[in-house]
Amino acid sequence: MSGLRPGEIFYDLGCGDGRVLVAAAGTFGACAVGIEISPLHCIVACLRLLAAGIGKKASIRWGNFNTADLSDADVVYQFGHSRYAEKLKQQLERQLRAGARVVSINVDLPGWQPEAVDRENLVFLYRMPPIPGDVASYLMREGDQ
Ligand SMILES: C[S@@+](CC[C@H](N)C(=O)[O-])C[C@H]1O[C@@H](n2cnc3c(N)ncnc32)[C@H](O)[C@@H]1O
Repeated sequence: MSGLRPGEIFYDLGCGDGRVLVAAAGTFGACAVGIEISPLHCIVACLRLLAAGIGKKASIRWGNFNTADLSDADVVYQFGHSRYAEKLKQQLERQLRAGARVVSINVDLPGWQPEAVDRENLVFLYRMPPIPGDVASYLMREGDQ
C-alpha cells in the first residue's frame, strides 16, 4: 500500500518478531530497520532475519521508538495502539521529511487525513506533510470523487 521500493529506508516501530522486516527487505528490497523495546523480541527478530538470509538488508535496534531518530525514513510502519498515537504523531511531524509515508495498522493518527485507507484490514496510509483532517474527512472527499 505504501509503494515501498528497493533501497528505500523502512522503519518498523515495534518490530516484534521481525516478520514485517523480512517482507520489507526480502520481498521489496528495502533497507529495513526494526526498533523494538522487548529484548526477547529483539532476539527472535534477529534469528528470523538470519534464517531469512537478509542480515545485510535489515537490522534491529533495541530501544524505545519514541526516542529514535527517524529523519532518514522513506516509510514508517507501525502496528499500534491508539493510546500512543498522539505522541507518535508529534514525533513524526517533527522528524519526517516531506514525501515520507506512514503506514499505520489498526490506528488512525489524530488530526491527519489519510491518503488511502484499507477498510477491510484497517490500514491507514499518510504522506508527509500530512493533510489536516481525519478518516471522516477522507471518506467525505472519497464520496465527492
Ligand atoms: C503489535 S506488535 C507489532 C509487531 C510487528 N510490527 C508486526 O506488525 O507484526 C507491537 C510491538 O511493539 C513493541 N513496542 C511497544 N512499545 C514500544 C516502544 N515504545 N518502542 C519500541 N517497541 C515497542 C512491543 O514490544 C511489540 O513487540
